[in-house]
Amino acid sequence: MHEPTPAAPEDPASPQGPTLFDWEFATDPYPAYAWLREHAPVHRTKLPSGVEAWLVTRYADARQALADQRLSKNPAHHAEPAHAKGKTGIPGERKAELMTHLLNIDPPDHTRLRRLVSKAFTPRRVAEFTPRVQELTDHLIERFESRGEADLIHEFAFPLPIYAICEMLGVPREDQDDFRDWAGMMIRHGGGPRGGVARSVKQMRTYLGELIHRKRDDLGDDLISDLIRASDHGDHLTEAEATAMAFILLFAGFETTVNLIGNGLHALFMNPDQRERLQASLAAGESALLATGVEELLRYDGPVELATWRFATEPFLLGGQHIAAGDPVLVVLAAADRDPERFADPDTLDLSRSDNQHLGYGHGIHYCLGAPLARLEGQTALASLLMRLPDLELAVPPADLRWRGGLIMRGLRTLPVRFTPR
Ligand code: HEM
Repeated sequence: MHEPTPAAPEDPASPQGPTLFDWEFATDPYPAYAWLREHAPVHRTKLPSGVEAWLVTRYADARQALADQRLSKNPAHHAEPAHAKGKTGIPGERKAELMTHLLNIDPPDHTRLRRLVSKAFTPRRVAEFTPRVQELTDHLIERFESRGEADLIHEFAFPLPIYAICEMLGVPREDQDDFRDWAGMMIRHGGGPRGGVARSVKQMRTYLGELIHRKRDDLGDDLISDLIRASDHGDHLTEAEATAMAFILLFAGFETTVNLIGNGLHALFMNPDQRERLQASLAAGESALLATGVEELLRYDGPVELATWRFATEPFLLGGQHIAAGDPVLVVLAAADRDPERFADPDTLDLSRSDNQHLGYGHGIHYCLGAPLARLEGQTALASLLMRLPDLELAVPPADLRWRGGLIMRGLRTLPVRFTPR
């Protein structure tokens, strides 16, 4: 993709480097990240919420930080609890019960919960789900394919993961549209539990709690039943833990997958040579380029721009910077995955890239639990769209596309397309 010029480091107007978190940055943060990687690889900045945090942008530092036991996921380690008024985006500040999920806890609690959930959410369960993901995908495409136009975020990327995870969990069909609405509220308002978002989060948790309670007496062949069954040397998830787990699976697996499909299609539209390569390979019945291609799309413009919050439990050096105990550290996955020290030609999309150990799914003990499901959904969604609607194209100039401006996630608000109706 074309590479706008980074803010000049010598520019006296910007001695601190490029402006972060404004509209231009939300549209294309990569030039700013390139500047940070080179000039201030571990950079202290004030976030729009007012909280100060370190941004880690080099691949080697990012990988180290993601696996570093001195960085805790527990927000109780944050040195500035005065900020904890619930507007910072730091999870768990307001709702104690949100604290019990995997992304907010450290070993040994994390080890125990992750082991139990891994017994239920297995690659085999995901593999068995393959035909159903294809059916859901086809069904969504059939709803708009005769129209010749669609918004692929709202009509496709958004419903697919929500229906997929609902079905996997065992949410009855007649209740799945409620989830769609609650999730829609959460994504439209960009996260933080406020107003309607707080209400949606509460409704979802209440519903899941009741469902788990009901399923206890009537176990079936679904993920929630497996969460209830999961045991490790006699240890089980409590009902509250199973509820928090079902919630985090929905929460972590939803907007991420929306963005994988949206950002992925966007990158393909902007790189027609790569898109043609992929289409030719799919038409020839091959799957290798699709598999490496989805990994490359995750590296090139992945859904999770910054890994979730981490807090230093003791002072230490990271990439030559002194991090104080209590400091928040945000690992910028999007910057690390374009580090020229790690990836040849990092700003080029190359769907057949080998040696592609990107950090799009994180690294270390919090490595994405849902990666097999995300890969399945991403590959099925992109392949089906490109095969069924081969002349799919953007219906607006690329400059008119708007990105949601959240801190952690990167994704498009809408993706209007047109194609020959079927
Ligand atoms: C963790 C990315 C889809 C469930 C993570 C992390 C990343 C990530 C970067 C680590 C965050 C950190 O260390 O701060 C993605 C991407 C996805 C995706 C890019 C889609 C393309 C999913 C799906 C599910 C899921 C579909 C489940 C249905 C989880 C869970 C964790 C996690 C439960 C927490 C693991 C732990 O703390 O041990 N994901 N994810 N993710 N992801 Fe995903």
